[in-house]
Amino acid sequence: MSSQRTEKAVIARDLAIYYGSKPALEGVTFDLNAGETLLLLGPNGAGKTTLLKTIAGFHDKYEGVILVFGRKPEESRDFISYVPQSFSLNEKVPLSVIEVVAMGALYKSGIVHRKIPEEIIKKSEKALSFVGLEDIKDKPFKNLSGGQKQRVLLARALISDPKLLLLDEPLSALDPSARAEVASVLNKIKKKKGISMIITTHDINPLLEIGDWVMLINRRMIAFGPPDDALREEIIKTVYGPMAKVIKVEDKLYCLTGDFHIHLPGGKKP
Ligand SMILES: Nc1ncnc2c1ncn2[C@@H]1O[C@H](COP(=O)(O)OP(=O)(O)OP(=O)(O)O)[C@@H](O)[C@H]1O
Ligand SMILES: [Mg+2]
Repeated sequence: MSSQRTEKAVIARDLAIYYGSKPALEGVTFDLNAGETLLLLGPNGAGKTTLLKTIAGFHDKYEGVILVFGRKPEESRDFISYVPQSFSLNEKVPLSVIEVVAMGALYKSGIVHRKIPEEIIKKSEKALSFVGLEDIKDKPFKNLSGGQKQRVLLARALISDPKLLLLDEPLSALDPSARAEVASVLNKIKKKKGISMIITTHDINPLLEIGDWVMLINRRMIAFGPPDDALREEIIKTVYGPMAKVIKVEDKLYCLTGDFHIHLPGGKKP
């Protein structure tokens, strides 16, 4: 028997999360090993953001167990990067791309600098190069496309060298080619950096390749397992209704929940 123990990025046991007296989400039990990616799926109001915020340590009204690398979420902030669902910048303040990235490190250190320290500029450039945007570092952030903005936010999340990345709807409001672009950066984060990730999405298809685990929730945990187990049609239908479908094309799984359109390679129709 191997004595090697796998490090757990997240452990949840019968987690119930509250805003008022009734749970917004309950019955959540899962393990995520270090380096693995969990895709979190569920309709509007299912509790996806609620679960991410709780894991990030921003919401502490819960019962049950939630541990991030063995510690309570509020004690794990140093190794978590959380990218919220809607990131808004005051666009009257004309921040450049590199300044937006550097903010990730400045916020974490809790120091407001007048001038960004050289060391943070270097780290920011490295992170921008990782997401393939080093050439536009001096451009105004507000002029970027949706896909580019999302990649900048990923660079910003990476500069604090997190062990767990929590990404709330990183593909929403993007067109199919931008979704593929962001999905390929996420794939690179997983392969090259080995960071554990939890990603919420309405469109699971561009992310299926990187998902080790899929969790389906709708105010309670409906399913958790490897994609082939969790994305079974009878399970999907309980959440998304009788029109939902799961199909396999050339050994690839596609999930049609009615929330999105699917785009098969070569423009084929499912
Ligand atoms: N701050 C809050 N106070 C009270 N109730 C809240 C709060 N935030 C969310 N809720 C409720 O908790 C439930 C889950 O919301 P949540 O935002 O987690 O869903 P979601 O799955 O992220 O939805 P979406 O796909 O629309 O982003 C909803 O019923 C929502 O109204
Ligand atoms: Mg949400």
